[in-house]
Amino acid sequence: MKNILVRCCAVLALLSNAPVLALPGAHNNVARQGTNKYVTAHFMVGIVENYTVDDWVTDMTLAKETGIDAFALNCASIDSYTDKQLAYAYEAAELADFKVFISFDFAYWSNGDTARITSIMKMYASHPGQFQYNDAALVSTFVGDNFNWTPVKNAVEHPIFAVPNLQDPNWSGSANTGIDGAFSWYAWPTDGGNSIILGPMTTIWDDRFRSNLQRAGKIYMAPVSPWFSTHFNTKNWVFICEDLPHLRWQQMLEMQPELIEIISWNDYGESHYIGPYSENHSDDGSAQWTKDFPHDAWRIIAKPYIAAYKAGERTPTVESDQLVYWYRPTPKAVTCSKDPLGPPSGVNLLSDSIFVTTLLTQPATLAVTSGGHESMSVEVGAGIVTSSFPMGVGWQYFSVSRNGEEILGGEGGWEIQDHCDYYNHNVYVGTF
Ligand SMILES: *[C@@H]1O[C@H](CO)[C@@H](O)[C@H](O)[C@H]1NC(C)=O
Ligand SMILES: *[C@@H]1O[C@H](CO)[C@@H](O)[C@H](O)[C@H]1NC(C)=O
Ligand SMILES: *[C@@H]1O[C@H](CO)[C@@H](O)[C@H](O)[C@H]1NC(C)=O
Repeated sequence: MKNILVRCCAVLALLSNAPVLALPGAHNNVARQGTNKYVTAHFMVGIVENYTVDDWVTDMTLAKETGIDAFALNCASIDSYTDKQLAYAYEAAELADFKVFISFDFAYWSNGDTARITSIMKMYASHPGQFQYNDAALVSTFVGDNFNWTPVKNAVEHPIFAVPNLQDPNWSGSANTGIDGAFSWYAWPTDGGNSIILGPMTTIWDDRFRSNLQRAGKIYMAPVSPWFSTHFNTKNWVFICEDLPHLRWQQMLEMQPELIEIISWNDYGESHYIGPYSENHSDDGSAQWTKDFPHDAWRIIAKPYIAAYKAGERTPTVESDQLVYWYRPTPKAVTCSKDPLGPPSGVNLLSDSIFVTTLLTQPATLAVTSGGHESMSVEVGAGIVTSSFPMGVGWQYFSVSRNGEEILGGEGGWEIQDHCDYYNHNVYVGTF
């Protein structure tokens, strides 16, 4: 029987061999500041064993439409199909006029893998599908805090720009491991590791990374993630995301980091995918909470923010009236009758709310009827605004009107129920 591995990635606590202390007098390569801004998205290669080049092109075309420039190809050393799928991804990127770069997943790779990592970088660093930053091939990781990139850089003719995921912001400024920047995995409200705290999300971790990196002349790749909920026997918790699908993008406009990586395009296991639910991926059991829960409409929020971020603007531009909503399938107190795992950690910190983001060209009135609750309405301004309403069991109705006339609205795509077989703290995301 095939051993189904639960794909990473937010398992920081399990992996945090504390990074080694900074060496005094560490030498820093001063990164040239990029003039352009780029948005990338984390892509789990480990779940697309049987993807075709066409499947890759389909995902890349959708990502491009949102303004995403590249996929970070999260890959494991142990999968027999890693080499084949990397080759397909690079080929598809060239076909789709998109870019990719490798994100070595150090839950599987180790510091002893320098030779194999070097040979992969030699193969792809100057490939037409490779994402270049400052004229160098970007490479990233999930953890792998102490991996030394200098020998890889020395052995590959094409320049390499190493922006690994680091867990300790202090290490990011002093590491002498040949890095040019760092990527943080603190995309959800946390005090560190996988600790769960109340939202809203702040930029405290980003600020720690940025101050250390800036001092060292290195760049920051900020994580943007809309949600987090996972429900495996080895991994059963939620982070408190709530309005994160919108709030985190606002933080990006204020912060203007050099690079952004969206977590994720297709990590169904952790419920933070913004890509379509692809029938062609291999299911690790997460279909139970993702198959009927589309997240595509979150890309409607991302798109104007990505455009504003790239233009260096602080406010997104709304071109047409739209509404995006999301909500969980059950109130948090409901007990699911058949679930052997029990509810995920953190569930008590969630609020029972319906979230609505309005993208409006002019002010309007938003009315929401949540299940058996009375209809509630609020005046919302032009621009992108998120409102929340108490969750009621039953169907959900949304209506936006202006000058007494409904301009958008309808029934939500999922009925909230007060009973369930299995816990699901993912959300149904829809749009009008
Ligand atoms: C990082 O540095 C700050 C400021 O010097 C210090 O307060 C903090 O304890 C350090 N954190 C770690 C994890 O070493
Ligand atoms: C992949 O999925 C899409 C629909 O999601 C389908 O149109 C396509 O044929 C699938 N490709 C393969 C190889 O099954
Ligand atoms: C991929 O295709 C092979 C060969 O057809 C098949 O044996 C395998 O089960 C497929 N894997 C998944 C995850 O669908």
